[in-house]
Amino acid sequence: MSTENNLKAAFAGESQANRKYSAFAAKAEQEGYPGVAKLFRAASEAEAIHALSELKALGGVKTTAENLKEAIEGETYEFTEMYPDFIKTAETEENNLAKRSFHLANEAEKVHADLYKEALALLESKENVDYYLCPVCGYIHKHNAPEKCPICGAKDSAFKNIG
Ligand code: FE2
Ligand code: FE2
Ligand code: FE2
Repeated sequence: MSTENNLKAAFAGESQANRKYSAFAAKAEQEGYPGVAKLFRAASEAEAIHALSELKALGGVKTTAENLKEAIEGETYEFTEMYPDFIKTAETEENNLAKRSFHLANEAEKVHADLYKEALALLESKENVDYYLCPVCGYIHKHNAPEKCPICGAKDSAFKNIG
């Protein structure tokens, strides 16, 4: 294995550990283990530090224009190839939980790609705008929270302002 491949594998693994420990922390909190929750939160942040350092060593963070182009490519791959395929398989296997998860992500990725395209087109203006995030499905809305999420139906009050 080349170091480039090792960095990619390490970045993927550390990124997953970051999210997993964050979920484990929430569960520990819920089950009444505040100390364990803190440990998971600390480790979650530690794995994020590892992931970021490996991504940088990979040369994975470029200029904002290049990063936007890469993000558009990634999102487009997800909603044109990856998720449609995953949804079909989940349907065949009658795995409704997975199907719903893939469906919500698939719909949100379409919007993400559009927002990235818009941001790239307007890059030179250096406009400063707020974005509102649906915490249920990951839909993002520019400027304000919509009355309800067009993907999952969540209320406007649930939206998180990403200042
Ligand atoms: Fe780590
Ligand atoms: Fe996305
Ligand atoms: Fe939503």
